[in-house]
Amino acid sequence: MTSPVIPEFTETNLDALAEFEGRLVVLVAPDGRLDQAARRVNRLSRGALARFAQSERFEKLKEGEAAELAFPAGLQAEAVQVLKLGRRAPADVVRRAGGAIGKALKEVPVLVAAGNLRHVAELALGLALRAYAFTAYKAEEAGKPLGAVTIMVTRPDEAREAAAGVAALAEGVFFTRDLVSEPANVLTTAEFARRLEGLKTLGVKVEVLDEAALEKLGMRALLAVGQGSESPSKVVVMQWQGGKKGEKPLALVGKGVVFDTGGISIKPAQGMEEMTMDMGGAGTVAGVMKALALRKARANVVGLVGLVENMPDGRAQRPGDIVKTMKGDTVEVINTDAEGRLVLCDLLWYAQERFEPAGVIDLATLTGAIIIALGHENAGVFSNNDALCNAFLKAARAEGEGAWRMPLGKAYDKLLKSDLADMKNVGGRPAGAVTAAQFLARFVKEETPWIHLDIAGVALVRKDGELAPRGATGWGVLSLDRLIADTYEEHG
Ligand code: BES
Ligand code: MN
Ligand code: ZN
Repeated sequence: MTSPVIPEFTETNLDALAEFEGRLVVLVAPDGRLDQAARRVNRLSRGALARFAQSERFEKLKEGEAAELAFPAGLQAEAVQVLKLGRRAPADVVRRAGGAIGKALKEVPVLVAAGNLRHVAELALGLALRAYAFTAYKAEEAGKPLGAVTIMVTRPDEAREAAAGVAALAEGVFFTRDLVSEPANVLTTAEFARRLEGLKTLGVKVEVLDEAALEKLGMRALLAVGQGSESPSKVVVMQWQGGKKGEKPLALVGKGVVFDTGGISIKPAQGMEEMTMDMGGAGTVAGVMKALALRKARANVVGLVGLVENMPDGRAQRPGDIVKTMKGDTVEVINTDAEGRLVLCDLLWYAQERFEPAGVIDLATLTGAIIIALGHENAGVFSNNDALCNAFLKAARAEGEGAWRMPLGKAYDKLLKSDLADMKNVGGRPAGAVTAAQFLARFVKEETPWIHLDIAGVALVRKDGELAPRGATGWGVLSLDRLIADTYEEHG
């Protein structure tokens, strides 16, 4: 398990700046003005900081970005990192500035002179999120701790209070990233379930339904996906009951395909290794549950994940098979690689039958088509309810997690018509992400407010980001946590 770097807050001590031997971080406002600490560093370094603040290089930096002066004269520090950041910068800019510190974080300690920066908690969150690294399988780096971070502020008590929730959020995001990063030989369905059971220590109720239980419930579509694997299929139900007793929960539903070979409709070898991330939806659900429990959210939320492995085998399902869903509708399986929707349809139905939830949000690395449509910048958002959808989009915007609404409609639904069964599991190449969503919509009751998030393009990225190194992003944990805080929690 990867732990986030959580900074200490202390009072500003200008005399400490000269002696500090690690990496020193100072703020310079976009207009080039130096605060008290920066002025002291400037004096000690005989004007180096002021010269930098007047340079073209500084001018070219965007607010929230940083530059580094290595081994500056007059200081013990091995580097001074200069953040271009005004003390009244907006929250998202401060978070990105924190990301710049986190990106540079190594083994050496860091001292940040933040003075009376507003939104200083965002600096701590951005730092923690960007400093993440999945090193479990790197002999050199595994277990090597990152340097401690101290943030000097004018009012440390206030800052500490403001930053109280940072660890909960970062731990939630890290839980997701760790799960998504794990290879499929380690993160089997059983190991995934074990890790989720670990949430019990935080007060989450966790149940693991085995194949016999799923059979009894009639989840034949979900079971069919896993029937070619040595790893038994499982559904894990996680309940966080922090809200009013008896109040209907929000249900989060996640696709947890621990590896997707495509099954008998096998995928090409090129890039197949990426399909270890096909449990990203379940990973995000797990991360949100962890964050909610850690910050003791005053809301009732239930997380349900379907853990299966899609393998080709003598017992695997075939193209042409017809399976019966828990709802009772039958599905002609045209392509065994369109397996996510077979897992989710039974989970969605079960979630509604058992919990009568106030809303359902499912997350899935569902289609390659959503990557063609939106790239790696935005998740696809599909919904039957404008109010819930707009609340989510607003939360995602505030968290800087890309999300873009996509259409649903009868004309797309028609593409799922089957000659033999109630529907087929693919609708052809056009609008592939929409027909996948349309398939799920058939398992959502009319009265249930519902959002489907296709996160195939955003759960894992190949480029370093401002708040995450390349690899698993943990997309959605922050937005869903905020949505829950804003719309489901009682305040006051
Ligand atoms: N897990 C994949 C979707 C995916 C693709 C996720 C790339 C992440 C990156 C999904 O199960 C799948 O294979 N979808 C098919 C559906 C098709 C057969 C209708 C696809 O998108 O090609
Ligand atoms: Mn697939
Ligand atoms: Zn898949």
